[in-house]
Amino acid sequence: MKRLIFAGLLLAGWAAAIAQGPPPAPKPETLASRPGATGGEALYVEHCMSCHGANGMGTGLLARRVQPALLEARGNLPAAYVTVAMRQGIGNMPAIPRGEVSNSELKQIADYLAAGPHPPAGGGGQ
Ligand code: HEC
Repeated sequence: MKRLIFAGLLLAGWAAAIAQGPPPAPKPETLASRPGATGGEALYVEHCMSCHGANGMGTGLLARRVQPALLEARGNLPAAYVTVAMRQGIGNMPAIPRGEVSNSELKQIADYLAAGPHPPAGGGGQ
């Protein structure tokens, strides 16, 4: 009898979980969702946000070893560190070549992150 009750509870919980569905994924951030972004911020959104946005794989992997996982929320990213991470790649992050992000663009992105932490822009991203 106890087992039957247990199985019933398990089924009920499962049915409830299915009815509820997964939580909504955070909206991806793009330049369209951050119309005010300029300079390093705009370049960051364009080149890095696909992985370093709220539900990106970079954010997910960084969350295992560093908090906050969102790069824009960090206040401890020296520009030199960001530069090396971008050009050489780091862990599971591929190197970003000059053809994709020029040296002057790279400097703007590195300076933008080094100047953090930045408040969540446009109300999203956190
Ligand atoms: C293809 C996905 C991808 C893109 C695009 C990407 N990254 Fe990453 N990034 C990652 C991943 C994954 C990690 C975590 C590496 C690890 O620990 O394995 C990471 C880690 C980092 C780190 C290290 C943070 C730390 O605390 O050690 C920095 C800095 C960084 N990325 C900067 C950038 C910048 C700047 C850009 C844009 C030019 C960028 N990334 C674009 C995937 C990406």
